[in-house]
Amino acid sequence: MPEQGWVNQEMENTKKVVAINGSYRRKGTTTELTKAALEGAASVGMDTEMILLRDKDIRYCTNCLTCYKDLDSEIAPCSIDDDMEEILHKTMDADGVILSSAVHNGFVTGLMTVFFERMAWRVCRPTGRLFVLRGLPQPRSNKTRALATIVSAGGMPTRLGKMFCNDGTPFMRQNGCYYLNADWVGGVYAGAKFSKELRGEDWCKAYLYKILTEEQLKEARELGIKMGAMIKADKLKPVHPFGRIGSLLDRVTAWFIRE
Ligand SMILES: Cc1cc2nc3c(=O)[nH]c(=O)nc-3n(C[C@H](O)[C@H](O)[C@H](O)COP(=O)(O)O)c2cc1C
Repeated sequence: MPEQGWVNQEMENTKKVVAINGSYRRKGTTTELTKAALEGAASVGMDTEMILLRDKDIRYCTNCLTCYKDLDSEIAPCSIDDDMEEILHKTMDADGVILSSAVHNGFVTGLMTVFFERMAWRVCRPTGRLFVLRGLPQPRSNKTRALATIVSAGGMPTRLGKMFCNDGTPFMRQNGCYYLNADWVGGVYAGAKFSKELRGEDWCKAYLYKILTEEQLKEARELGIKMGAMIKADKLKPVHPFGRIGSLLDRVTAWFIRE
C-alpha cells in the first residue's frame, strides 16, 4: 500500500484538462466533440472535466470595473456572485483548456462571448504593453497552459466554413491564448455533414439534418491526445500576439520605452 502522502502527491501531479463548452445543447454536436477530445486527453493520463456553461449561473458583465481596478490578485474579484468564480478557479488550475462552441452567425454562441467578457479582466490585469500602447491585458497567472478550440457548424461545409464562416476559432484562439497564458495545440472545425442528401427545400432546414462523422469525432479525440502529449512533454510556450518574434520585440521596446 502506498503511503497517504505519496498518493496525495500523485494526485497533485496529475495534469488536468478542462473543457469550457458554450453550446446551448446538452447533447448536441459540440458536446459530443468535446467529450471525444476529453476522452483523448484522458487516454494519455489527463484528469478531465467538461463545464457546460448553459448549466451554470453566468450573468452579464455590468462593466463595474471591480476586476479591472485590482492589479494584485491572481483572479481578480467580481461584484457578481455567480458560478464564474468556480469556473475561473478550475480554468486557472488546469494545465489544458479546450474552448468549444457551436458556430452561431459565423462566430461563437452568446454564452461563450459572455464567458470571455466575464473572464477578461479577472484573469488579466491592464498592465500590458505593446510598443507605445499601454493598458493592454496581461495574464495574471504565469502558469503556461495548453489551449485548443472546437467549433461545430450546422450549414457550412468544413473547407468553406473554415475560410469564410469561422470568426469563432481565431477569437477563442487569440484571446484564449493571450488571457490564459497558453500555447496553441490546434482546433477542430466540424463542418456540415447531413443525415441525408439534401435537395431543394431541405436546404432551408439544413441545421436539422446535421450529424457528426466518425472522422470528425476522431479528429477531436486526436486533438485531446495531442493536448495531453504536449502537456506531458512540458514544452509549452505561451503564444505572443506577434508570434515568434514577440518576445524579442518586447525586449527591444522595453529598452526604448523607459518608465
Ligand atoms: C442562432 C444560430 C445561428 C447559427 N449560425 C450558423 C452559422 O453561421 N453557420 C453555420 O454553419 N451554422 C449555424 N448555425 C447552426 C449551428 O452551428 C449547428 O446547429 C450546430 O451543429 C449546433 O451545435 P450544437 O449541436 O452543439 O448545438 C446556427 C444556429 C443557430 C441557432
